[in-house]
Amino acid sequence: MLATDIIAKKRDGLELTREELQTFIEGIVSGAIPDYQIAAWLMAVYLRGMTLQETINLTFAMAHSGRVMDLADIAPFVVDKHSTGGVGDKTTLVVAPLVASTGLPVGKISGRGLSFTGGTVDKLESVPGLRCDLTVSEFKKCLRSHGIALSGQSHDLAPADGILYALRDVTATISSIPLIASSIMSKKIAAGADGIVLDVKVGHGAFNKTLDDAEALATLMLNIGHGMGRKMAAVLSNMDQPLGNAVGNALEVVEAIDTLRGRGPADLIEQCLTLATQMLLVAGRAQTQEQALELLQDSLRNGSALEKFREWIMAQGGDPRVVNNPGDVLPSARFSTVLRAEVSGWVCAVNALEIGMAALSLGAGRTRKGDAIDPSVGIVLHRKTGDRVGHGDPLCTVHSSFAPDSEPFREVQKRIEGAYRFSREPVPKPELILKILSPQALHQAD
Ligand code: URA
Repeated sequence: MLATDIIAKKRDGLELTREELQTFIEGIVSGAIPDYQIAAWLMAVYLRGMTLQETINLTFAMAHSGRVMDLADIAPFVVDKHSTGGVGDKTTLVVAPLVASTGLPVGKISGRGLSFTGGTVDKLESVPGLRCDLTVSEFKKCLRSHGIALSGQSHDLAPADGILYALRDVTATISSIPLIASSIMSKKIAAGADGIVLDVKVGHGAFNKTLDDAEALATLMLNIGHGMGRKMAAVLSNMDQPLGNAVGNALEVVEAIDTLRGRGPADLIEQCLTLATQMLLVAGRAQTQEQALELLQDSLRNGSALEKFREWIMAQGGDPRVVNNPGDVLPSARFSTVLRAEVSGWVCAVNALEIGMAALSLGAGRTRKGDAIDPSVGIVLHRKTGDRVGHGDPLCTVHSSFAPDSEPFREVQKRIEGAYRFSREPVPKPELILKILSPQALHQAD
């Protein structure tokens, strides 16, 4: 079977078979198919789309292009969660130990931040000593002994995705729903979890700007997972403004610990409890949302979620003193500067994309894969949408490595101030959880 035949078939809008997709993906990974043919095929997929069955077959081929982890010898059911990426999204740091503390093993492969979105691996690595470059046997050992393990993505996990993603980036084919869904789900399937809860973000600080787009992507990913025998659910959540208050790696670790102590921001607590509830439900650990919530709230109240976090940090080599004395352990920025409101009224928007870009300019994120980041810097919001604000009240604190009277700081300040919008009238708090898609939502994507 020639690569040109496969490209032509897709160009003409026909459905590729499982064998054709398998051959194409094998050719990509072996190097037999050159970049220009992959690029042509990507554009054909972008323009013609894919059926559900084609997307499932593509995902399967991509997942099996490298190592597929088998966790059956570790536990009868391992659960994972995946966020499509946002600003201030530190939910994994809370949800993973919270769910693990109820006795349900959580095994997760996470990414690093890129552009305005943060990454869990970067956040965790701000804890001194903590390693996210676990080998498969270290990952399994940690999961077996502690019921929780998180590692960065290794090169042998779904290698076809790495090749396709790099080419999508330079051929204007990133925003194809079947390509996004197969990219995300191939890595999830290869990582071996039995249950996967997707956190699909919608809004200014998210990849999906509309609820319809997010729902189409979520439904397709649910169908792919379901088609491969995984238990699935998806939460669609608002990312118009940052989640929680902290944006920046070490700052987000502090906020996650506060949340595990039951003292986190209300929106972050709501997001974490919603995701954790779905994780317990897909695993059959609870039969109803109420039962799940009761288990989770018990774990928060009696301290076992926080204890599990400490155990996890230690198991992956991190300094456990971070739990009680984060200020002594985590890196802190040279300058912290409060920005104040110049008007009074109500906050009606805190644009997540702009706050994410401001954090990126401070050094909290990277513009290109492999860039170094500064774990200490970031922004802590003191006012968010719906909050009342008086003239001179603090809006946020900027943690920076450059002085407040420097040109780069002024640029960041301008960006943050531009992210805030005010109203003279009271503004309601935005709804955070927009929709939950459970197994009943399946089979609507095609
Ligand atoms: N995340 C991924 O892993 N792949 C995509 O295509 C988009 C987001």
